[in-house]
Amino acid sequence: MNYKITNGAISYGADTIIEEIEFEIKDKDKIAIVGRNGCGKTTLLKSIVDNSMLEEGIGENKFSVYKQGNPSIGYLKQIDFEDPSKTMLEEILKVYKPIIELEEKINKLTDLLQNSNDEKLIKDYSNSVEKYELIGGYTYKKEYETAIKKFGFIDEDKQKRIDEFSGGQRTKIAFLKLILSKPDILLLDEPTNHLDIAAIEWLENYLKNYPKAVVIVSHDRMFLDRIVNKVYEIEYGQMKEYVGNYSEFEKQKRIDYEKRLKDYEYQQAEIKRLNSIADRFRYKPTKAKMALSKLKKIEQMDIIEEPNKYDLKSFHADFNIEIESVKTVLIVKDLKIGYNEKIVENNISFNLYKGQKLGIIGENRNR
Ligand SMILES: Nc1ncnc2c1ncn2[C@@H]1O[C@H](COP(=O)(O)OP(=O)(O)OP(=O)(O)O)[C@@H](O)[C@H]1O
Ligand SMILES: [Mg+2]
Repeated sequence: MNYKITNGAISYGADTIIEEIEFEIKDKDKIAIVGRNGCGKTTLLKSIVDNSMLEEGIGENKFSVYKQGNPSIGYLKQIDFEDPSKTMLEEILKVYKPIIELEEKINKLTDLLQNSNDEKLIKDYSNSVEKYELIGGYTYKKEYETAIKKFGFIDEDKQKRIDEFSGGQRTKIAFLKLILSKPDILLLDEPTNHLDIAAIEWLENYLKNYPKAVVIVSHDRMFLDRIVNKVYEIEYGQMKEYVGNYSEFEKQKRIDYEKRLKDYEYQQAEIKRLNSIADRFRYKPTKAKMALSKLKKIEQMDIIEEPNKYDLKSFHADFNIEIESVKTVLIVKDLKIGYNEKIVENNISFNLYKGQKLGIIGENRNR
């Protein structure tokens, strides 16, 4: 499988979001798309699904979108279930339709073979069993059971109707279905949002071993680091490819920046030196020619622009403190949590002091 965009661009009206897109997905690539809020990551994913968003870029290559092997693409977007009165299990089993149909066929053949020695039936049976194993017949139940649990659902949830779940839970079910259906290219936009630590760890492993390609947009560096082998960064409307995981990308980016900065500083110093020689000697008749040649040298230089500040923060904000806090910020004593019933068994007590940072963690399930 191969999916390649050459010299593409994406605009919304007069605003070009990304220029000169050179982007490639191969067989089992695990790709990260990174960059600041609003740089165009989600837009790029959308354009992979809907090529009509792409137009010719300003690069030299001819604009093209090349797809080898007609890849199936799965994109996690806001949920659309055909029939929300179906249960979660019914929804999930849709993913395994070919396996389940084959299962039914094998069961029928098994019945028939109770009273028959027909060669054709026996052959059909053995072929079916072989195919059944090949398409995951012996592992699919365990696969979805594990996934359901890891996403924080309990056994009873399987029989619950889709319209009885919360919006967030429905998104999770859609996500589960998507990854279990194993498209050739899996496009995931911020997949770790709303998942607890156990689910993230499970997902990490699942994606790492995913037998096909995955493209992930995420601000979670550790998550990316464990999965990806290629990083595309979108910055100042341009895309750049880095081979390796997220740490490799950071390293390469720092090295690039430092080299560019050094080249820039060296050239600036040289310009200053040549200028000062020219200034000193341009009015001395015997040296004026030499002084002019220095100025000419500057003119002929390929001027290196000051590199953009090396900065990998995806989010920038200044929180101005209006009121300086006191030493003791919060004293909590015997706090009960719940609605009609308590949802946390024990009462909670803690003190929070100025400068402390408190994390609240827990699993998605509430039972
Ligand atoms: N339908 C649209 N019409 C016009 N402009 C849009 C549209 N969708 C997105 N944009 C603009 O395109 C730019 C890229 O948006 P996009 O959603 O791709 O960013 P992103 O990199 O995914 O950001 P984030 O990290 O916040 O998710 C933004 O400036 C956004 O305002
Ligand atoms: Mg986005």
